[in-house]
Amino acid sequence: MTRGRFITLEGGEGAGKTVQAARLRDALEARGVGTVLTREPGGSPGAEEIRRLLVSGPVERWEPLAEAMLHAAARRDHLLHTIEPALERGLWVISDRFVDSMIVYQGYGQGADLGVLERLSDLSLGGFEPDLTVVLDIPVSEGLGRAAARAGSNRYERMGTDFHETVRRGFLARAESDERRYAVVDATADPDTVDRAIQKIVAARLPVLFDE
Ligand SMILES: Nc1ncnc2c1ncn2[C@@H]1O[C@H](COP(=O)(O)OP(=O)(O)OP(=O)(O)O)[C@@H](O)[C@H]1O
Ligand SMILES: [Mg+2]
Repeated sequence: MTRGRFITLEGGEGAGKTVQAARLRDALEARGVGTVLTREPGGSPGAEEIRRLLVSGPVERWEPLAEAMLHAAARRDHLLHTIEPALERGLWVISDRFVDSMIVYQGYGQGADLGVLERLSDLSLGGFEPDLTVVLDIPVSEGLGRAAARAGSNRYERMGTDFHETVRRGFLARAESDERRYAVVDATADPDTVDRAIQKIVAARLPVLFDE
């Protein structure tokens, strides 16, 4: 059994990660590739319980490193109970956010030490990393505007505009530092255009599918 591939979608609030993760899942399934669509924080029963501690309540609820540790604990559970078993069965796993969100939100955004976060990432993942990370890039005001149009708002959406600007720069900096693993997509375009851009990247980086 050939091991599956692991693709993560990253980017700020309202960039279109959830919409595009589902579209990529559909595109892969239409080509006969078995998939698992998952998300962070969450993605396994234990990690979904931890998610509630992270996305609800007052903005100032957690000290940044403690918050990153909760994310890391959730991620380890997600890896062990959802991601690894699926990859071993040959399924392609698509995650709506992953470790980059922790490093960018708690590090760039909230000021936790980046070196400490990298160590935390290594501890929780033991060297495991995505085969491909697509960063959906959108101006902060546009992304928050889209997110605001949805019902309710979570704890991260309520953090200030400066925070979200720093987050945007953080994702772009990480993408620039490793062009093999990351690709940046302009997320301001309409959903079909973004969808096609992502499929093109997947076809180029992780061949076997998508006859052009
Ligand atoms: N390309 C697009 N053009 C216009 N609207 C879009 C586009 N993609 C998504 N949207 C809309 O913007 C909103 C946010 O999209 P989505 O929930 O996929 O973003 P997200 O990146 O998952 O946000 P969050 O980080 O808050 O979960 C949704 O209402 C969605 O329908
Ligand atoms: Mg989403």
